[in-house]
Amino acid sequence: ATPAALSKRILAWYDRNARVLPWRAPPGRVADPYHVWLSEIMLQQTTVVAVAPYFLTFIKRWPTVKDLAAASLDDILTAWAGLGYYARARNLHKCAQLVAEWRDGVFPDEEEALRGLPGIGDYTAAAIAAIAHGRPAVVMDGNIERVIARMFAVTDPLPAVKPKLKALAAGLTPSSRPGDYAQALMDLGATVCTPRQPACVLCPWLQDCDASHQGIADELPAKLAK
Ligand code: ADE
Repeated sequence: ATPAALSKRILAWYDRNARVLPWRAPPGRVADPYHVWLSEIMLQQTTVVAVAPYFLTFIKRWPTVKDLAAASLDDILTAWAGLGYYARARNLHKCAQLVAEWRDGVFPDEEEALRGLPGIGDYTAAAIAAIAHGRPAVVMDGNIERVIARMFAVTDPLPAVKPKLKALAAGLTPSSRPGDYAQALMDLGATVCTPRQPACVLCPWLQDCDASHQGIADELPAKLAK
């Protein structure tokens, strides 16, 4: 199938199967950049289930990035307690202050401008550009790497194969609904194309998946032996 046909099929799957998460806009809409940024920082090292209540507490207490910038670091660290990796909370506060002070509370919409803000690396910059701004950024996380490795039956091991997976993913990324597309891949990886015993019968990409055809989906991606 063509990239256009594949993205159309996974977006139709997403419209039916998207996980309902508090930082998401309804499918077809872009979400509030503040919500996307805050959730993506929280999700960097923490699961969706653990993040959801913290996310809701934060946006209730600090409804905008300017409110968060005006908070004390102590209050943010206290509210963060339990999420772990506290450098994230310090960077959160720094980033909020930069965006509030230098950009009047408006998050950049360019990946390059986002990257390099405190706490924002390649993954988070691409996620915000796609999900909050509708930019066709190539979003790569562990779930998406697994889906792509299986689709193209890439057997070379992680981590060296990451650039190759990103190039293959770039060839599939659509310019329409790129944020939904990225989150569709995340949800597919989390619920169908799982690390073990993937539920291939439920996959909208099954007919195009090289690893499934070869019977090796559950073996990919390979990881360099430690
Ligand atoms: N993990 C990181 N970002 C996510 C998102 N936007 N939706 C679901 N899981 C995620």
